[in-house]
Amino acid sequence: MRFDVVTIFPETFPGVLESGLSGQALINRTIEIYCHNPRDFTSDKHRSVDDAPFGGGAGMLMKPAPLFECIEHMGQPRPFVVLLSPQGIPFNQKLARSFVDQYDRIAFICGRYEGVDERVRTNLVDMDVSIGDFVLSGGEIAAMAIIETLTRLIPGVVGNQESLTHESLENNLLKYPQYTRPRNYRGLKVPDVLLSGNHALIDKWRQEQSRLRTQTRRPDLFTCNQMNKNDKYPIASDGANDGEKNKESE
Ligand code: ADE
Repeated sequence: MRFDVVTIFPETFPGVLESGLSGQALINRTIEIYCHNPRDFTSDKHRSVDDAPFGGGAGMLMKPAPLFECIEHMGQPRPFVVLLSPQGIPFNQKLARSFVDQYDRIAFICGRYEGVDERVRTNLVDMDVSIGDFVLSGGEIAAMAIIETLTRLIPGVVGNQESLTHESLENNLLKYPQYTRPRNYRGLKVPDVLLSGNHALIDKWRQEQSRLRTQTRRPDLFTCNQMNKNDKYPIASDGANDGEKNKESE
């Protein structure tokens, strides 16, 4: 899969993507990342990519010409073009899966300043995406987060595919609590069920914990699940096992 990143800070890439699984994917060329600087598509002596908004107001906007020309320079067929901005549709695991299933080349436009000229959004961009309800200084970190998420979904990148299905938010569930050795750390004990060797019981416990955790921490996801009910196990009624409230019972 190929990623083209439009950024005025190309030196920030690959950044954290050079480490771990994505680093390995870069070495194997399972993924490729190319940066394009919109300043290379300017003609003034300051190579300026921003200008003041018509109508007044605070801050500067990214001008349309360097962004249009930068994307056009990528040739045909054009990549799928994503604009990173807090106004975008929320990125999640489902959207990540749909990107990996549909596209083998995606361009990310990393906005800076107060945003981009609206004509970029309406005439150049295929999808406006946000990684959350907070404001970064630019789209670079958002692009890295998305590239890492997509890379993990490319077959062969994560060794144990089972770990993908269990961790995934594609089923709108948060992961159950997990423990490793020792069984007793400073009096904090691993739940007996996990030491029981009874895998049917462990499975049931994990599903219940996932549901409880989702219900308390992410009622928005939980409501979604209630709407497409295909649950195997009923929700435990007391909710007492929830993480922070009762460490022993986890
Ligand atoms: N640029 C600035 N904030 C952002 C966000 N939350 N998501 C994506 N791009 C951004």
